[in-house]
Order: sequence, then C-alpha cells, then structure tokens
Amino acid sequence: MACPVSSNTSLAGARRSVAVNASFLKALLAVGSLVLIAVLVVSFGVISRTIDVARSQRLERENRALVAGLARGRRMLDAFCYAGGFACHALLAGAASALLLDSSADALAQARRNLSLNGVEERATLREGNAFDGLRELQARGERFSLVVLDPPPFTRRKDAVEAAARGYKEINLRALRLLEPGGVLATFSCSHHVAPALFEDICRQAAGDAAVPTRLLSTLTQSRDHPVLLNVPETRYLTGLLLEVV
Ligand SMILES: C[S@@+](CC[C@H](N)C(=O)[O-])C[C@H]1O[C@@H](n2cnc3c(N)ncnc32)[C@H](O)[C@@H]1O
Repeated sequence: MACPVSSNTSLAGARRSVAVNASFLKALLAVGSLVLIAVLVVSFGVISRTIDVARSQRLERENRALVAGLARGRRMLDAFCYAGGFACHALLAGAASALLLDSSADALAQARRNLSLNGVEERATLREGNAFDGLRELQARGERFSLVVLDPPPFTRRKDAVEAAARGYKEINLRALRLLEPGGVLATFSCSHHVAPALFEDICRQAAGDAAVPTRLLSTLTQSRDHPVLLNVPETRYLTGLLLEVV
C-alpha cells in the first residue's frame, strides 16, 4: 500500500523538482542572456568606437589612412563628418586643427566622444548645421584650410535624379576648392551609385573650372579593399572619390 503512495509522492516530487529545475534553468538563461547582452552592448560600444576611429576598420579605413598620411601640420575641414572618423585620424596623425561639420546632433555627439577617447578633442571644433551653408559661410568669412574632406551622404539613389545630384556635388566641391590654400588637398567622395567615377571626375573638373582654382588630380579613390567590387554586380561599387591638390 505504501508503495503506490510512495511512488505517487516520489513522482510528484520528481515533477516538482523538474519544474523547479526548469524554472531555475529559465531564470539562469534569462540572467545569462542579460549578462551576454550587456557584455555585447559594452563590447560593441567600445569596439564601435575603436573600430570607427582608433583602429579604423570601418568602410573607409584606407581612405582615412590616406588622409591621415597627408594631415601633419594641416588645418583640416571634415565636412559631413558623421562620427568624426576622418578628423580623428587626421588629428592623431598630427593635423594642427580640425573643424567638423554635420547636420546631425547625434553624429556630432559620437564625434565628440571619439575625439575625446582619442585625446584629440582640444584641437577640434564641432559645428552642427547644413554643410552647404557651412561651406558658404566659411568662404564668406575668408577662412582657409589646407586639408578638406567632403564625404556626403548619397545625393541620389535614383538614376533619373543624377542631374540634380551632380549640381549638389559641383556646389560643395566648388566651395571646398575655394576654401583651400595653395598646396591644400581635397579628398572628395560620392556614394551615389548612379554617379559613376567618370561623371564624378567631370563634375569636379567643372567645379575647379568655375572656382578658377588650378587643381591637380593626385589619385582616384574608391572603397576599401575589404569591400570588393564584383564586376558582374555593379551595385557593389558604392564609393568613388578623388584626391585633388590646389596648385
Ligand atoms: C556618408 S556619412 C559621412 C561618413 C563619415 N565621413 C565617416 O568617415 O564615417 C554622411 C554624413 O552627412 C551628414 N549629412 C547629411 N546631410 C547633411 C547636410 N546637408 N549637411 C551636413 N551634414 C549632412 C549625415 O548626418 C552623415 O553623418
């Protein structure tokens, strides 16, 4: 008689213990996931900053290194700066100063953090606003730079809007060239897929002509090699650029 009772009891006990174990396991998993998420958030926070700026492993790693290589002693303007990748690298490489322009307060907050993390914030000035206006105002105030980076967002994602985009690129490049002192360098980019490299070069040629600034083509630029362009998938080419020098 005792047996069935005892067996029921032990079965109930076993069920309870399985239930307890399951909830314990669930709780453990929940805590574990939270810890994991926290660790990932913290790690990504650190990594994204170091990847973006200190270790330069973002999309434009090679272009940032190129700009940094030219930066020593120069007065830099980083227009459309986002998180300040170009400026940070240039300042770390010895640029005398950097003015960072972006229309996004969030982007500038990231830039400020990155500059500070890299210990170069004292040589940087951050300005929030439309870069089209910013470039015009700088020119009106007679400001001059010896290194300018123009890295705007895509001005078009549509083929039928290339003409309007071209006007935008011409405008900012013309302004940037006028801001450069002789010997100054402009690294200028377009990530509008429909603005092909030849067209972008043509736009910059017209900008230099209208600005009446003698300009030398130092090199053509593209995305870093870890973002290869697949010949049969033309959309994989997302960045074209030029390195220009005012002579
Ligand atoms: C392609 S991202 C720049 C990337 C950055 N140079 C880097 O190295 O990571 C374009 C940036 O332009 C900013 N932007 C977009 N329109 C703008 C405007 N009219 N004036 C100023 N900044 C603008 C965006 O907020 C964004 O941060």
